[in-house]
Amino acid sequence: MSRRQMKLGLFLWATGHHIAAWRHPKAHEKAGIDIAHYIELARTAEAAKFDMVFCEDAAGLREANVGIASQTSRSIGFEPVSLLSALAARTERIGLVSTASTSYNEPYGLARMFASLDNLSGGRAGWNLVTSASPIEAANFVATGLRPHADRYERAREFATAVTGLWLGRPGHDGQGFSVRDPLDIPPSPQGAPVMVQAGASDDGKDLAARTADVVFSAAQTFDEAKAFYDDLKGRLAVYGREPDDIKILPGVAPVVAETEAQAREKHDQLQELIPDDVGVALLSSYLSISDLGRYPLDGPLPELPESEGMKSRQALVIEQARRDGLSIRDLARYFAGARGHWRLVGTPAQVADELQARFEGGAADGFNVMPSWFPGELDAFARLVVPELQRRGLFRKDYEGRTLREHLGLKRPTREAV
Ligand SMILES: Cc1cc2nc3c(=O)[nH]c(=O)nc-3n(C[C@H](O)[C@H](O)[C@H](O)COP(=O)(O)O)c2cc1C
Repeated sequence: MSRRQMKLGLFLWATGHHIAAWRHPKAHEKAGIDIAHYIELARTAEAAKFDMVFCEDAAGLREANVGIASQTSRSIGFEPVSLLSALAARTERIGLVSTASTSYNEPYGLARMFASLDNLSGGRAGWNLVTSASPIEAANFVATGLRPHADRYERAREFATAVTGLWLGRPGHDGQGFSVRDPLDIPPSPQGAPVMVQAGASDDGKDLAARTADVVFSAAQTFDEAKAFYDDLKGRLAVYGREPDDIKILPGVAPVVAETEAQAREKHDQLQELIPDDVGVALLSSYLSISDLGRYPLDGPLPELPESEGMKSRQALVIEQARRDGLSIRDLARYFAGARGHWRLVGTPAQVADELQARFEGGAADGFNVMPSWFPGELDAFARLVVPELQRRGLFRKDYEGRTLREHLGLKRPTREAV
């Protein structure tokens, strides 16, 4: 039997995933609305044999404070399914995954959109199902604002059933929340059904993923966090009659790679220096659930803080790290702002490959959702330096095994009996 190999997604994000990517000396100022820029990224990923490109989405601004938003949200540009339709015409093999919300769409329209993308791309489409947790986005759709978490997931469960039914040609859906009379007005798509992706981390989120998802994205800093998430989710599959390998779990990783460790550190430090202090401190404040961290001296230590009613475990983690490493508020803000809470890897191709291999072979990941710090530079570096190293170790494909995204991922074709 051939060796198990990693799956790789490329998380697209205009200027790059580092919060200060847009300030990089070589950053492309209009990246978010330049189709040639996205075509270049998708083609680089395809030449490197990535499984897919992935677009996030929220139909609204990403940050309530408009001053901060203007410094962090430079990713905003195209509506993602439109963007992927354009990329479908300029690529041949790479998978095309877009986020779309179950809270602000209807099943028939969404099923139709992704079935179209699957047809026009020759079987390369995937849907990242989100319930949308942002109150800023909610305010653009629902007068009463964000619906409670449990209600959002209840709607998402029925939504997913209705969409899958439409894709698989089952007759209409008549449920609590939705009514669909006819089958889709689009022929069955090459994959049978586009690939289902999810990134929820709550109990409800993990259960819905265990029932319906083919791919799950996650965020984990440490090996232990990644492993706990992996085991938890894979452990839920049997309840739904599924095998552990039916879901591919891809944690995010933000790599900064160069021929020598010193060069990689220098590139990383250069980006870290570009983080505007007010942006870094605002993000740190939100992790710590306090609103006014900016009134303390930035080069001083963290003040004593009341225990959070928000993200208790995250707050404890940040405080512990600050005390242990003697970090000032500014240092700490820069550390957390850099990779938006995702795993960061700085080093040589061999060092980066070692770390990825350890998580992959240690049962904490089936592959990774790669989040380059800035585009196109860090994607180019990963494709040129890390991918060949992974291929040399037999951990990543040298060519595509098939034509569809399901074939790349080694996923079964869904049947009409699927939920
Ligand atoms: C890699 C990744 C990408 C995500 N993309 C989106 C997105 O595009 N839109 C969105 O509303 N939420 C996105 N999320 C958030 C998740 O979908 C989910 O809402 C969040 O993890 C909270 O999960 P929970 O509601 O199950 O607790 C993303 C999460 C991760 C880890």
